[in-house]
Amino acid sequence: MKFKKSLFAGILAAASASALLASQSAVAQNAWPTKSISLIVPFAAGGPTDSVARLISVPMGQALGQTVVVENVPGAGGTIASTKVARAAPDGYTIYLHHMGMATAQALYDKLPYDPLTSFEYIGQVADVPMVLLGKKSLPANNFKELEAYIKANGSKVTMANAGPGAVSQLCGLLFQSRLGVRLTNVPYKGTGPALTDLLGGQVDLLCDQTTQTIPYIKDGGVKAYGTTTLKRLPAIPNVPTLDEQGFKGFEVKVWHGMYTPKGVPKPILDKLNAALKKSLNSPDVKKRLEDANIDIVSVNKISENGLKTHLDAEINKWGPIIRKANIPD
Ligand code: MLT
Repeated sequence: MKFKKSLFAGILAAASASALLASQSAVAQNAWPTKSISLIVPFAAGGPTDSVARLISVPMGQALGQTVVVENVPGAGGTIASTKVARAAPDGYTIYLHHMGMATAQALYDKLPYDPLTSFEYIGQVADVPMVLLGKKSLPANNFKELEAYIKANGSKVTMANAGPGAVSQLCGLLFQSRLGVRLTNVPYKGTGPALTDLLGGQVDLLCDQTTQTIPYIKDGGVKAYGTTTLKRLPAIPNVPTLDEQGFKGFEVKVWHGMYTPKGVPKPILDKLNAALKKSLNSPDVKKRLEDANIDIVSVNKISENGLKTHLDAEINKWGPIIRKANIPD
């Protein structure tokens, strides 16, 4: 009887302790965020991913009532940052903006310390960014045909910048080389921000980069633009033909972005992050700046857990065979 009584008291104490914990955690989730939030970017500052992150971080912070601080964790084409985020505390204070490298990394690396489809929570898709094949302004080739001839004549003397395996600049550059049947000297950077600086300075010959920062340089002749990776010409640079129309049929690389958190962040926090992301992407300033760079804002149903996860899954299945067929990396 005595034993039964103490067992009952024990069960009661455990139940009230877990009820207390649950209510404390509900209070914490309601109060979140009570401090600044770190938005991890997997490439160097000054590049396209960093720019999109900085653009949306301000209105997101305003919507959440706390500052969203961008933290650049560059290296290994984004996989260092993805690993860091997968291992971070699931408390809502670490969020992550990555592009389609989240889908291509599995086919590019033998082993990843995270699984793109199970190691994260999925806040929503963010924006789709086109790419352009760029050359330094002193390159003698003035159009795509001349570039092909120049590359055939100079082979591996031609240098092409990228942001490492897992970066879209590398994917685009190697798909281009695979179509041409040549292998250039590929030069890795920590992001296409520093790569673009070197292209402008003439230290590297070619770079396949997103339009986020490149349009003003294309317009003022700071770089040569040989073709877009879209199937239609871009309104901001209508004189630049697509690679598709210049003989690279079906050559299309559109860089989609997604926002993630570590696995296990409570649903009420994910919902707040999703609402803040939607609000940010709908702010007139963000819309205008994305449109000026020919960046497509995704439809509202894609700014959701399901929208991002379905797309990620489809992109993993899409890019795996393309990457293997193109023999990337060699
Ligand atoms: C960057 O932000 O530096 C780029 O998105 C890197 C890349 O994937 O090419």
